[in-house]
Amino acid sequence: MCADSRKKLRIRKGITSLIIAIEGTVPEKVLPSGLDAPESTGIRVSLKYSTMTSTSRRRFLIAPLLGIPTAAYARLVEPTWLERTERSCLIPGLRKPVRLAHLSDLHASHDVPVSLIEDAVQMAIDFRPDLICITGDFVTDATGFDLNWYSAVLSRLSGRAPSFAVLGNHDGGLWSAPRGGFSTTGKVAGFIERSGVNLLVNRSMRIACNGAGLQIVGMSDLWSGELDAERAFREVDSESPALLLAHNPDSKTLAESYNWRLMLSGHTHGGQVVAPVLGFSPAPVLDRRYVRGLKPWRDRWIHVSCGVGNIGGVRFNCRPEVTLLHLLPGADRRIPALTSL
Ligand SMILES: [Fe+2]
Repeated sequence: MCADSRKKLRIRKGITSLIIAIEGTVPEKVLPSGLDAPESTGIRVSLKYSTMTSTSRRRFLIAPLLGIPTAAYARLVEPTWLERTERSCLIPGLRKPVRLAHLSDLHASHDVPVSLIEDAVQMAIDFRPDLICITGDFVTDATGFDLNWYSAVLSRLSGRAPSFAVLGNHDGGLWSAPRGGFSTTGKVAGFIERSGVNLLVNRSMRIACNGAGLQIVGMSDLWSGELDAERAFREVDSESPALLLAHNPDSKTLAESYNWRLMLSGHTHGGQVVAPVLGFSPAPVLDRRYVRGLKPWRDRWIHVSCGVGNIGGVRFNCRPEVTLLHLLPGADRRIPALTSL
């Protein structure tokens, strides 16, 4: 396919995503590759999950008044309009506060400019984090990025703070191979490891972070068929709190019986294209309570990042984000407010 045809296809996919969100239907065959929803995934109206800051709402409302058509806004403005978000949660067993920078779904590709990924990395560094976590989908497919460039960009993170990562469904293997991606995870794992970021493939590491002992557990991607929770948690104990990194938030049920306090995920892109007010979005997850933001699950927390990059070159009502999570020492018991779900 020539460059012109590829560009037209990307624009068509982007506009299709927008139409899907506005009309509130998700015919699987017209979804951009990578956002194909599981068969049992339905659209559910969710006012609770539709969030806009006052600044973003202003810009969102002003754009049409300035004569910028909605499709152009979704294509040209929002995909690179990076947002800094900040949230906090109590972590039982934690001895000191920890500043954690969470990035996800960088999606280096023809649709995502190099500058957006570099800006996101700088934003994470500017947080002055004690710990950095990246939850998968470093690439979209096997094209549109340079391995050495990627390694150099990520090394800026590992040079600032201990950095950990897991892979997503786009990063190679069973799911990505028939969709233009790598047949194995070797290439992506290679540039991550060369950057000094610790890649967790169904394993855990123990660290001392700002004087606080932490265990970082990483599970492989759910859709890749390589997730092995038993292996990932084999060396985890109850001496210090455990943070779980898993690309797809639906992975939580496979890790339910293990010891962790906070799960970091991505995959959904926050919906990527979200209908205003009603909150329709084509997020490819079964449990649609966990599409974006920090939410309780049983006696634990789950943080789902809206991600940095995108599929198809569009975003609407769902800006790319880099999050600073404040992990705070909490009581060593179940938190009543977290038992409602
Ligand atoms: Fe993704």
